[in-house]
Amino acid sequence: MFPIRLEKLQFCPNGRQVLADVDLLLGPEGITAVLGPNGAGKSVLLKTLAGLERPTGGSIDWNGGPTPAGRIAMVFQHPILLRTSVFDNVILGLKPMSLSRRELRQRGLEMLERVGLADRASDSARHLSGGERQRLALARCWAIRPRLLLLDEPTAALDPTATEAVEQLIREIRTDGTKVMMTTHNLGQALRLADDVVFIYGGRIREHTSNSEFFVRPRTEDAKRFIQGELPWRIAFTD
Ligand SMILES: Nc1ncnc2c1ncn2[C@@H]1O[C@H](COP(=O)(O)OP(=O)(O)OP(=O)(O)O)[C@@H](O)[C@H]1O
Ligand SMILES: [Mg+2]
Repeated sequence: MFPIRLEKLQFCPNGRQVLADVDLLLGPEGITAVLGPNGAGKSVLLKTLAGLERPTGGSIDWNGGPTPAGRIAMVFQHPILLRTSVFDNVILGLKPMSLSRRELRQRGLEMLERVGLADRASDSARHLSGGERQRLALARCWAIRPRLLLLDEPTAALDPTATEAVEQLIREIRTDGTKVMMTTHNLGQALRLADDVVFIYGGRIREHTSNSEFFVRPRTEDAKRFIQGELPWRIAFTD
């Protein structure tokens, strides 16, 4: 499945250029943060990788093949949960796999344990708080052991404590062997979590560098302005 190679990828619905000539190489490990201002094309990029948007040009090569060999999961800012129990939600992705009832139950409870929701298994998912909903959504994806996990602003609506809990889970998912690609407007979060940063501006990838390079030595003026705008106290770059 890796490396994933995007070549001259375009998304131009009704002739409007949303993604333009996106070239990107994604390795099998780590957390890649996709940063950029509103409307830059971050979500579209993730959705294209998830197969939820069809590119209008260019190609995605999955280690030499036209389709991914491993599982891909995506979590949105406001995850859609079934109006049933927390447990029913966490096993949703496992149902198509031929597991016995016992295995299904075991795996579901293990996942809820990992995200600190085991004691809520029989509660209605509707009653969960925002942070709990997000943890459940992550557990639901993690349960299927995806090879690639796409997270679109997973903590945008969460308070600092809930954000920290979700960040810790993302680290654990990465350590478990899942490649994570995530968007965030929280640059502190990108600094804390990301191994590499993709900076997208006006539908084009302007930078793809290591975390430390991006925040210390951004190459483009657009990236410098973006970082200064979001982190005004970080006003000096080492070039
Ligand atoms: N299916 C679609 N058809 C037409 N235009 C679209 C479609 N999906 C997204 N767009 C447009 O593409 C642009 C980029 O959208 P996208 O959601 O990727 O931005 P973003 O970088 O995720 O922004 P934000 O930080 O606000 O989430 C926007 O102008 C959006 O309106
Ligand atoms: Mg978005």
